Amino acid sequence: MTDPRLDTLLHACPGLRLKTDPADLEHYGRDWTRRWAPAPLAIALPGSVEEVQAVVRWANQNTVAVVPSGGRTGLSGGAVAANGELVLSLERLNKALDFNAVDRTLTVQAGMPLEAVHNAAREHGLQYPVDFAARGSCSIGGNIATNAGGIRVIRYGNTREWVAGLKVVAGNGELLEFNKGLIKNSSGYDFRQLMIGSEGTLGIVVEATLKLVDPPPATNVMLLALPSFEVLMQVFSAFRERMQLEAFEFFTDRAVHHVSAHGAQYPFAETYPYYVVTEYAAADEAGEAAALAAFEHCMEQGWVLDGVISASEAQAQQLWRLREGITEALARYRPYKNDVSVRISAMPAFLAEAQALIGGAYPHFDVVWFGHIGDGNLHINVLKPEDTSDAEFLGQCEHVTKLLAQVLHRFHGSISAEHGIGLVKKPYLSSTRDAAEIALMRGVKQAFDPLGLMNPGKVFDL
Ligand code: FAD
Ligand code: MLT
Ligand code: ZN
Repeated sequence: MTDPRLDTLLHACPGLRLKTDPADLEHYGRDWTRRWAPAPLAIALPGSVEEVQAVVRWANQNTVAVVPSGGRTGLSGGAVAANGELVLSLERLNKALDFNAVDRTLTVQAGMPLEAVHNAAREHGLQYPVDFAARGSCSIGGNIATNAGGIRVIRYGNTREWVAGLKVVAGNGELLEFNKGLIKNSSGYDFRQLMIGSEGTLGIVVEATLKLVDPPPATNVMLLALPSFEVLMQVFSAFRERMQLEAFEFFTDRAVHHVSAHGAQYPFAETYPYYVVTEYAAADEAGEAAALAAFEHCMEQGWVLDGVISASEAQAQQLWRLREGITEALARYRPYKNDVSVRISAMPAFLAEAQALIGGAYPHFDVVWFGHIGDGNLHINVLKPEDTSDAEFLGQCEHVTKLLAQVLHRFHGSISAEHGIGLVKKPYLSSTRDAAEIALMRGVKQAFDPLGLMNPGKVFDL
């Protein structure tokens, strides 16, 4: 143990598990962005809520910044510790604590992986419906801190909809309990909702009571090939009118190129410029008939060029892999990621402007478009060419993002639909939130975290 402050930490919290090996500092000090060099003071791995409180109180006494850390699958630099912060990992607080069959709620510790939450819900004959490809490694606490979205938002909404109660250790070490599982509670400010999406800047989520719902209906998965971007929203409307959609996701030929190189199986003989993977309720013949009717209508209009429907669970998974495998397939290029949203009704006009801007701005870069188009959420990933330096690449991407942020501002859209602001989007927060709102955010932070020690420098600067 090199830093003498860590002796005082162990004195304040005897038995606390601490990691200080260089490999651990590197592992826990960064997230999926891999843009900042990790440099934390140490990694604290509390095994109880009391230990979390003791660590935060110690941080207050010693003015040490704390970075709450879940699975570090974040894509905005929210869990990065690059300035001597103490990383507080929730990974040991990873258990289900209680299931209430009458309330249909599951109470879990914040470090529980999303997939373990899914499994626990399923064991009780119910589902926790927020879902996305990082399910195996992200934590429910991280999902809450980023208000994670994913592939089922179109049907079930974001994480925000599924939190019935929270226990939080605030910036001063006090344990707070919000909403306590109530469905109806009109008793003043809803601090539970304020914590959701706060990216660790107000305190540390230690427990969550999650709402569960009936298991999903029997579904089928369809892959569609489209001729152009312009028809995307028409296909969406045609499908949404006729079917109960569980997911509606789009991606481009460049995405298919990268996922195929990464092992995904491509089912068509030809390649096409755009694709949609959609999952829909198909419990009976009516569901299947509606899907076929939507497909045929789109073919007649020339909006869809080809299609395939899954004939088995294995084939459904193969089709999903073409979409869900994109992030991993692109990771080796350390892509610059935009994660933007506009209202669905504004999407056609926004798509046209965004495409013109991006197409002109990056003539020589590989740009991969995909996302949750049914929620008005686009992911634009720019891949760094090997012969371009990090600094030059980043400079160019930041320049284009500034222009994109101006377009978003005009469309009243968001610079971060679901990944959070973290460090990556901080320079663009004002394109989505006006100055009065950001001033209020600072006031809220001051109330929860008087010394400004909870994930400082993330979302906005003080
Ligand atoms: P971390 O990365 O560890 O942290 C994220 C933020 O939350 C940080 O600011 C951190 O300080 C804070 N935090 C973590 N735990 C706590 C806590 N207990 N209390 C307070 N603050 C905390 N995101 C989507 O929304 N939709 C997607 O479809 C999606 N797909 C993805 C696919 C892949 C392959 C990958 C790698 C990522 C994807 N993500 C997606 C992004 C990421 O998985 C989510 O943001 C996820 O919610 C982060 O969870 P985490 O536990 O990894 O959080
Ligand atoms: C996704 O939709 O796949 C995720 O948000 C991850 C990403 O944008 O890379
Ligand atoms: Zn996404």
